[in-house]
Amino acid sequence: MDAPPLALGVGDRRDRVRDALPPLRARLSQRVFERRRIALSCASGSLGRPASESGRVAFDRSCSACHGVHAAGSAKGPALVHRVYHPGLHADSAFDLAVWHGVRAHHWSFGDMPPQPEVTPTELANITRYVRELQKANGIE
Ligand code: HEC
Repeated sequence: MDAPPLALGVGDRRDRVRDALPPLRARLSQRVFERRRIALSCASGSLGRPASESGRVAFDRSCSACHGVHAAGSAKGPALVHRVYHPGLHADSAFDLAVWHGVRAHHWSFGDMPPQPEVTPTELANITRYVRELQKANGIE
């Protein structure tokens, strides 16, 4: 029988814990992935209704390039499925203002949002409903 291992010093234990953790980058992308998965998982459930379905189509065309698929965010714009965009903090009128007039960067460092003149008023109402349903499905209501 081998002798029992010597007790580890604090430094050794810290190194072992550090080595056992995934590198920071991997952990970050895992969290981003997890967020997207959550937004994705809710998209199939409650969103079969006509208004939010046509909202999704318009969103995918005009908004998803920056706000990401299912409004989960991208490298060019923030997730709208985020507590910052809770209806109590950004009412539906914030969507109208953003789409008609654009947004000067103030919450994040993605840059300004240009106006989206191709979006019709009906599409905008449906987009807003779609995003609200995604938020709700993710506990933001
Ligand atoms: C070219 C990229 C881009 C596109 C396309 C885009 N957005 Fe944005 N949007 C942004 C960025 C960036 C911000 C965050 C600005 C900040 O607060 O820093 C933003 C912010 C917003 C906000 C928050 C406004 C506020 O009052 O703070 C809403 C709502 C919004 N976008 C909706 C939309 C909708 C709906 C569409 C599609 C019709 C859309 N955006 C298309 C980049 C984009």
